Order: sequence, then C-alpha cells, then structure tokens
Amino acid sequence: MTEAPRVSVDPFAVTVRGVGEPHPARAALRAAGHVVQAEAPAGGPAWIITDDTLARAALVHPGIVKDPAYAPAHWDPRTAGLEPTAAAQPSLTTLDGAPHERLRRAHRPLFTARRMAEYAERITAIARELLAGLDAEDTVDLMADFATRYPLTVVCDVLGVPLDRVDQAMAACRSMYSDDPEEVGRAMAAFADLAASALEKGAAGLAAELRDQVPAELTEPDLHYLIFTLIYAGQLTTDPSLGFLLAHVLDAGAQVPADDLVRETLRRHAPAPFTLWRFTSTDVELGGVRLPARSPVLVDIQGINTDPGRAIGPDLSFGAGPHYCTGAQLAQLELRALVEVLRTDFPAARLAVPYADLRQVDFGGIQGGRLTALPVRLRG
Ligand code: HEM
Repeated sequence: MTEAPRVSVDPFAVTVRGVGEPHPARAALRAAGHVVQAEAPAGGPAWIITDDTLARAALVHPGIVKDPAYAPAHWDPRTAGLEPTAAAQPSLTTLDGAPHERLRRAHRPLFTARRMAEYAERITAIARELLAGLDAEDTVDLMADFATRYPLTVVCDVLGVPLDRVDQAMAACRSMYSDDPEEVGRAMAAFADLAASALEKGAAGLAAELRDQVPAELTEPDLHYLIFTLIYAGQLTTDPSLGFLLAHVLDAGAQVPADDLVRETLRRHAPAPFTLWRFTSTDVELGGVRLPARSPVLVDIQGINTDPGRAIGPDLSFGAGPHYCTGAQLAQLELRALVEVLRTDFPAARLAVPYADLRQVDFGGIQGGRLTALPVRLRG
C-alpha cells in the first residue's frame, strides 16, 4: 500500500474565469494520481478521488461514511461547512447503512420519473409564467433573479409549500452563504417554517406524502429537516446549472435536442463539482492507497466528468451509490421544460453579449461555479 501523493494546487480556491475555461486544478489533480491529497479548507489533508472506477467503489464502500461524527477531530464544523452528526440530526445526507436506506425507501416512491412526470405541465407553466414576467423589451440578466426563483418555485410547488412563500425561500437560501451563524440560524428557522406550511392540514404535496412514509420514530423537527434538505438541495445545484444550460441553448444549441443539451451541460459544468464530504470510519485501502481512519474523502465529480480519457457511459453529475441524488428526475425535468419554453415562447431570444465574454465564479470550498451574469434579449 502506498501513500496518496500530495498536490500543491488548491482545488478549493475561489476562482473567476471564462465560461469555457476548465477549472485550473482539475488536470493537475488527475495527473497526480487516482487518489491524491490536497489541503482541506478546514485544515489538514483531504483525500480526493480522480478516477471513475475508484470513485464508484468509494461511493459504495462501507468504511467510507457520511456521518460528520467521523470528521477529523480538529475540524471546525462551521469552517468545514459540516452538518450536525447523524445522532444529532438524522437525514439523508448524514446517515449511512440501514438507517439511511430506510429514509431512502420513504423518499423513493415520491421522486421516480413517473411521479415527476405528473408535474411536467405545472413545471412548464411555471417556466412560462416566470419568463413571461421578465422585461422582454430590454436586456435581462437571467442569473439575477430567475435562476434562483425558477428552481425554488418548482421545488416548493412539488412539495406543497404555498407559492407566496417563494420569496421567503429565496431569502433563506441566500442567507445560508452567510459567515454569521445567527443569520444561518434564522435561515434554518425560516426553512422549518416553510416545511411546516407544507405539512398544514389540507396541504397537498410531496411533503405531506413523505410524512406518511418516514419511520415512526422521526420527530416533527426531523421531518422539517428532511424537507429543508429537499428545498435547499433543489436550489443549490439547479440554480447554477440553469445559467450554463441557457448560455449553451442561446449560443449554439438551437438544433440540439433538449435532453442531450441538459445531459451534456450537467457533465461539462457539474453543478456539484465534488460529492459532499465523506470520512473513513476505519483504516481503508482504495486502489492500493492507504487512507487512515477519520480521513476526509471527496470524489472529484467535475474532474472525472471532463477527463479527456473518460470512457463513454454514465457520468457522475448526480453521484452514484446509495446517496445518488434524490432529485435527479425532477432536476432534469425542470431543465428540459425550461429549454422547451424558451424555444417555443421566445424563438428569437439571444445572448446580449458574446458567449466567450460570459464569466463564471467558483465560490470556493466544495461549492460549484455559477455565471456572474447572463444578459439575454428575450425578443431578439
Ligand atoms: C442539476 C441539479 C442537481 C445536481 C447536479 C445534483 C447533484 C447531486 C449529487 C452529486 C448528490 C450526491 C452527493 C453525495 O453523494 O455526496 C446529490 C444528492 C442529493 N440531492 Fe441532488 N442534485 C441536483 C438537484 C436536486 C434536486 C432538485 C433535489 C430535490 C428535490 C435534490 C436533492 C438531493 C438530496 C436530498 C440528496 C441527498 C441524497 C442522499 O444523501 O441520500 N437534488 N445531488
């Protein structure tokens, strides 16, 4: 067994670059090895997997877990952006093994392609209404409000959160970026309030269905946390992917089927560039490399997706294994609906600046990039 090589590049740095420019660290990580060590934002080494086969093995490995209880002892949970431990807050994103599978079983029937297809017309109507509400005579920046409002309106509608609460949801999502713990605490309280509104008597939506499916020992605040996870995860990733998708549609994608455009955009601009943090619960060997217990582990989704030597086949945009994205069907449905509505309702829409002038910012840590602006002339 060998030690993973240490890289000097910082894959967690804040970067601003052109829309087509690859992330500066990805090729260097890949060139260094299949499992490499980089300095983690919260200090100490993080083990990053840059190879597709090893990544898929890690994502089903019983000794590589999500529970933040196994995070390095010196990590400050806030700097590291960690959730509470699984014992403190059971959730899809903190549990492992059988308790995680029980929660997945509760979510699974709600988010299948067939269930999501029932929402297709409503989602199209939301895309149509929000685009029609923009100032079509002038240049609009679709990243300013639309990119956040559209996925949040969709996820609120599907869950049964009343749509007059979308502004509250937008404010709560934005506050999650704050360095001020009190502001983040207020955002979490707002999410709990949104979840409660979807569970009120008479509310119809998937949140109420989820309540009937979850294990009986789950408390009301636990249920609120599950609904928070769906709202926040539904916005965090779909929001940035909208910018890249619309930029491709308006640049050169006029003839490309919506399905292909969505898939290719998610592969090239993976909105979750890394998986969420995982930790080794014991000493682990991966691809001949030794990972001591309590090592933080990430899969480099973006690097693997854009590896020039990658074999044709499914990419890692929505992850793999037991934590595969719950909302993958919903996300793809809403992205495709948007492409269709743009094409049918705004056939003359065009970018107001050359594609090559668009810029993206990586916010640092394990967060993905987002276009800084997307100026569009909807009526040409
Ligand atoms: C383009 C949009 C999206 C992308 C690229 C994306 C990507 C991902 C990825 C990579 C993971 C796995 C993380 C890991 O293994 O550490 C994940 C998990 C998850 N996603 Fe998504 N996601 C998207 C949209 C959504 C939406 C719309 C929802 C809500 C309905 C959602 C809810 C979740 C949840 C709850 C998990 C945790 C699942 C678990 O740990 O068992 N996602 N997502």
